[in-house]
Order: sequence, then structure tokens, then C-alpha cells
Amino acid sequence: MKPAKKEAPTIYQLAPEIKPGQSIELLKELHILTRDGKLNQDSRRKLKQVYHLVQFIEPLLKDVGENVTVVDHGAGKSYLGFILYDLFFKGRENAGHIYGIETREELVQKSTELAARLGFPGMSFLNLSVAESTESDKLPATIDVVTALHACNTATDDAIDFALKKHAKHIVLVPCCQAEVASVLRKNKGRDLGRSALTEIWRHPIHTREFGSQITNVLRCLQLEAHGYQVTVTELVGWEHSMKNELIVATYKNLPRRRPAERLQQVLAEVGLEELSSRFYTESTTSEPTP
Ligand SMILES: C[S@@+](CC[C@H](N)C(=O)[O-])C[C@H]1O[C@@H](n2cnc3c(N)ncnc32)[C@H](O)[C@@H]1O
Repeated sequence: MKPAKKEAPTIYQLAPEIKPGQSIELLKELHILTRDGKLNQDSRRKLKQVYHLVQFIEPLLKDVGENVTVVDHGAGKSYLGFILYDLFFKGRENAGHIYGIETREELVQKSTELAARLGFPGMSFLNLSVAESTESDKLPATIDVVTALHACNTATDDAIDFALKKHAKHIVLVPCCQAEVASVLRKNKGRDLGRSALTEIWRHPIHTREFGSQITNVLRCLQLEAHGYQVTVTELVGWEHSMKNELIVATYKNLPRRRPAERLQQVLAEVGLEELSSRFYTESTTSEPTP
């Protein structure tokens, strides 16, 4: 009887998008690569999107240097955290730690198991809401970089609150839809419509929603500036599948705070959102310490 033919190992050409040293196992686990190492149309787009965001975050990590602490809020499957770790933390002593905050327990468990399997000791996942994580003793008192990518509704606002309280050096936000501001605009519409012709901007229901979303991000930017941050707002290109592609990057520069704080209060008053001043608090409306 002829001896059985030995199975030849599968050799495949890696897609050019895969960077040298990048973990193939990770990309397969995240379903970015198929089992035979191929990138399909959807995963090619997903990878392009994550790389695009990583490109904004890389200089921020370099700015901090060693022992960088990163907290990713509303981490989901932690694509961003894992790819950041794989590209910039893996195998480097004193590189730092990435924490993923996520309310869905099964995702936290899966990510924890995956990090253990890949030998990524500098990653932790906490089953907490963003608001709970601000008070949690499982996180350090200060955090260098805070990210929140499509964290739902007011979770982005909670991530800003977290970043301010943790004295973050850099904050990277891609906000999701936020319903709170629109609901207050809607509630006060009857009261406010006669006040100024500009209330026409949010009279129709669809405009209430869209303007609510737009003004939310304006208020977030003013709040960050009112805490001494330099803020850049840009579009997260490559994110064509999502309407929510506004990228807000804030870097602490200890800039003068008075004017943005005054502007924030004026905008809240002009559009009848005074009751949200504690949501978009500034140092002049609280006794928050400066970062
Ligand atoms: C749209 S997904 C985005 C996931 C991931 N950041 C990404 O872009 O691939 C939003 C995630 O935030 C989580 N989430 C929503 N509200 C949260 C909160 N208050 N605290 C922590 N996680 C939250 C959801 O469970 C979900 O996994």
C-alpha cells in the first residue's frame, strides 16, 4: 500500500493591506481575514476605516511616549483597541495599556479571551458603562488617550466627562446619534418658536433631529475648548456607510477657557437648552479641577 500523501501547508499571498508583523490570527478572529487569509470586499472596507482612524491616533500615542494608557469607550468587538495594540504596543516593553469599556458582557468576555489567546497582556476589558468607569477603581486616576467610536447616544458625552476627570491629554471621538438635545429642543419648541426667526432652523421634526445632532457636537467642542483643549473637527473619510462620520480630536493645551465657556452658555441660551448646562459643564459652571 502506498503511504498516504502528506498534506502540503496552505500558502497564500497576503493582501497588500496587511502590514508587516501584523497578527494574521487577530485579523482572522476579527473576521477581517477569511480562514484562508483573504480579504473580502466588506472586510477590506472595514480595515481601511480602522487604519484611517489609527492614522489619526498614532501621532497622539507617539506624543505621549512610553506607558501610554488608552481607554476605548463603547468598545464593541474592540476592532480599534486590538488593531492599535497589534500595531503599536505588541512586543514593546513599557508600551502601555489599552482598556476597552463595554456594557455588553458577552463582548467583554470574548475580547478578554482573545487578548489572552493572542498573548496581549496590556489589554483589559471592563463590563461597565462609560459613566460607571469614571468612578471605577479598576482604572488609573489619569488616562492619556480617550477614544469613543460610535458610542451610542449620550455615551460620547459620558466619555468627554471621563476624559476631563481623568485629565486626558488626547480625546478622539466619532459621535453617534444623540437624542437628548433634540428631545429638549422638541419639548421647548412651543415656548421658543416665537422668540426668533432662527428657531425656524429646528421647527420641522426632521430638522429638530438633524439640528439637535449638529448642535450637540458644537456644544461638545465648546465644552472641550472651555477646558483648555485645542479641538479639530474633520470628516472620517472611508466611513461612507455611516452618516455619523464626524471626527473630533481634542488635545490638551491649557488654552484660555473664558471665551469658549461664555460662548457655550450663550449658545445654550439662544437655542433654549439652558437645562442642559450641567451636561455640557465648564469650569465656570462647576468646581472641576483643571487637567
Ligand atoms: C455602535 S457600537 C460601536 C462599537 C465600536 N466602537 C466600533 O466602532 O466598532 C456601540 C457600542 O457601545 C456600547 N455602549 C452603548 N452605550 C454604552 C455605555 N453607556 N457604556 C459602555 N458601552 C456602551 C454598545 O453595547 C456597543 O457595543
